[in-house]
Amino acid sequence: MISLDSRLSLCASFVRQGSRLADIGTDHAYLPVWLCRNGVCECAIAADINPEPLSRGQLTIRQAGLEDKVKTRLSDGLKNISADEADDIVIAGMGGELIAKIIFDCEYSRNKNKRFILQPMTKSELLIERLCQNGFEILSQDCCVASNKCYTVLLVQYSGKERVYDEIYPYAGELKPRENETHLRFLKAHIERLLKKANGDAGFAVLAEKLKESIYGDC
Ligand SMILES: C[S@@+](CC[C@H](N)C(=O)[O-])C[C@H]1O[C@@H](n2cnc3c(N)ncnc32)[C@H](O)[C@@H]1O
Repeated sequence: MISLDSRLSLCASFVRQGSRLADIGTDHAYLPVWLCRNGVCECAIAADINPEPLSRGQLTIRQAGLEDKVKTRLSDGLKNISADEADDIVIAGMGGELIAKIIFDCEYSRNKNKRFILQPMTKSELLIERLCQNGFEILSQDCCVASNKCYTVLLVQYSGKERVYDEIYPYAGELKPRENETHLRFLKAHIERLLKKANGDAGFAVLAEKLKESIYGDC
């Protein structure tokens, strides 16, 4: 029986009951197997660009006896997955730039019925900025800690609305650092990275200061 770590559990918590899932970059296929096994998804596509991870996924699916519900697919992003095959699309464990590319390379990502659950390993600020610039909305965002590392997960949908956002929003997104310790930890890591980059570019120091103010402001 598969159990998910807190990073994949957080991704799973955003998937809609009864949805058809596509897990892009599935590797071991733990997430689609867990979601089908636990009755959250009726069916799932476990997709990967590389055959090796896909065969690891096939093994997990076989061991769980879920070959009728979870299908594997060799696919670069969403290229080999058609619009009518998935409602909720998870892209987890990749860099923010690659996640953005996968979304914008897919013509049906702007379908308002599709939801994306995104877990960037790096450059979440770049991903959020590109999403906002292209009419995507962050419906919800949360953070978790796994193996002492802090991760964020975004629930995203196309709204077509142009969002007016300040320079802090790509970093802070929909997080609530005053109410949630894990959100605070995630934003502190952003501040540390900005301060490191500030050695070469003072603009990053200003940004770090603004981000600090947005967290601690009038406390
Ligand atoms: C670090 S693993 C993440 C596995 C799992 N999603 C997770 O979060 O634990 C990244 C996986 O993404 C796959 N991958 C990388 N680029 C991809 C692309 N353009 N399309 C589909 N899969 C991709 C890799 O082959 C690898 O199996």
